[in-house]
Amino acid sequence: MSTVTIVEVGPRDGLQNEASPVSTADKIALITGLAGAGVSVIEAGSFVSPKWVPQMADSAAVLAGLPPLPGVRLPVLVPNLKGLEAAQAAGVSEIAIFGAASEAFSQRNINCSIEESLARFRPVTEAALAAGMRVRGYVSCVLGCPYQGAVPVADVVRVSEALAAMGCYEVSLGDTIGVGTAGAARALVKTLAASLGMGRVAVHFHDTYGQALANILACLEEGVRTVDSSIAGLGGCPYAKGASGNVATEDVVYLLNGLGLSTGIDLDRLASVGRQISGVLGRAPASKVGQALAAK
Ligand code: HMG
Ligand code: MG
Repeated sequence: MSTVTIVEVGPRDGLQNEASPVSTADKIALITGLAGAGVSVIEAGSFVSPKWVPQMADSAAVLAGLPPLPGVRLPVLVPNLKGLEAAQAAGVSEIAIFGAASEAFSQRNINCSIEESLARFRPVTEAALAAGMRVRGYVSCVLGCPYQGAVPVADVVRVSEALAAMGCYEVSLGDTIGVGTAGAARALVKTLAASLGMGRVAVHFHDTYGQALANILACLEEGVRTVDSSIAGLGGCPYAKGASGNVATEDVVYLLNGLGLSTGIDLDRLASVGRQISGVLGRAPASKVGQALAAK
């Protein structure tokens, strides 16, 4: 059976935008629960400026508090060398650097131009690779930007190729504000696959306009086999006004199960983790599958 890797981003992309703080213990319980449901890649936090994203300030404490999770990769976001040093001190073995295809978003999100960000990521990636870490690259606003509007595909290609050339093993294409539709998503991954190879392309859809599952299906049909998603549909981006949650992991796993694509994830256990974190946040899971399973 063909497999798809789910990169669970809820503990990072999901929780980074929550108005009410989530305790370190609840984050640890979330990550442990996800691992128990069979999720093998879980983005566990960010080593960014706590002034910019206070919700992620306890990432080192979260990692320190986790029980051993054999076979589970726990990447974290790192924007600069300071973040890399902190991540290394916390024992991290995989990081993600995050750029954008839109100039305006780059300025709002990481306070520098695209070119400056690439110049900043180069030494970070070099040092991380030299330390034996794996480095993933994100490109935000691949199908539209909250500040700039349309984003030329050529800009997505240029930034993705730069991240791949630095040594990122994979580039995750972020539809940060969920404006993309299936035709555009399909065309984009086809173009990226031609330059990077499909094996290095991952997709990261927010579900703001309800298009994420359709977009994912189109990308799967093109051969994409790595999909980012967020438990219970948690999420948003503090620097993308109107960005709602990522596509819910429960919904993606249900889709993949129906297609006969295996993820190694137990859907019932996953849905129970979704209910648990949604309870902590005081709301129902945004996942339709999560809601349907709860009503059974
Ligand atoms: P800056 O203000 O330009 O940086 O921010 P700076 O170097 O001038 O530093 C300012 C202060 O932050 C200093 O402290 C630094 O020490 C500190 P002060 O001297 O004022 O006390 N600092 C740090 N502290 C801890 N860890 C660090 C760090 N770096 C500096 N690593 C910076 C530039 C990049 C740091 C800032 O803009 C930042 O942290 N941005 C992060 C924004 C973010 O996390 N956004 C959300 C993630 S991206 C996303 O969600 C999209 C994605 O999901 C894909 C998609 O959906 O498209 C990935
Ligand atoms: Mg995101």
